[in-house]
Amino acid sequence: MKMHITRKERFNAAHRLYREDYSDEKNLEVFGKCSNPNWHGHNYDLYVTVAGEVNPETGFVINLKQLSKIIREYVVNKLDHKNINLEVDFMQGKLASTENIAIAIWNELEKPVNELDAKLHSIKIYETENNFVEYFGE
Ligand code: NI
Repeated sequence: MKMHITRKERFNAAHRLYREDYSDEKNLEVFGKCSNPNWHGHNYDLYVTVAGEVNPETGFVINLKQLSKIIREYVVNKLDHKNINLEVDFMQGKLASTENIAIAIWNELEKPVNELDAKLHSIKIYETENNFVEYFGE
């Protein structure tokens, strides 16, 4: 039996959306409030969905405790209460958009999830209650 299973984690982080080659006015026009030069934060909700077979011995697709540990070690501990632009190794040189964060998180988690004999299915991130992105690794 194939199944999807999801672990939710949260992190708070600061960022700024901007391009060096834009003026502050252009950054404001393109990126809105997220271009504030003095940073700002979001409470992000992260949903990591994994696909796999239900193991007949355990009844699990994956041990969620192990999945949570991996997510915290590879992703959440690096992001939580940090400045995404300045402090997060896997976001260096990238625009700190929710889209790019989702792609980077996928790249961080793909290998360790494979090592649990499961397959990463999607990364979903809510930046606000109303805005979220989903990435399926393509
Ligand atoms: Ni923002």
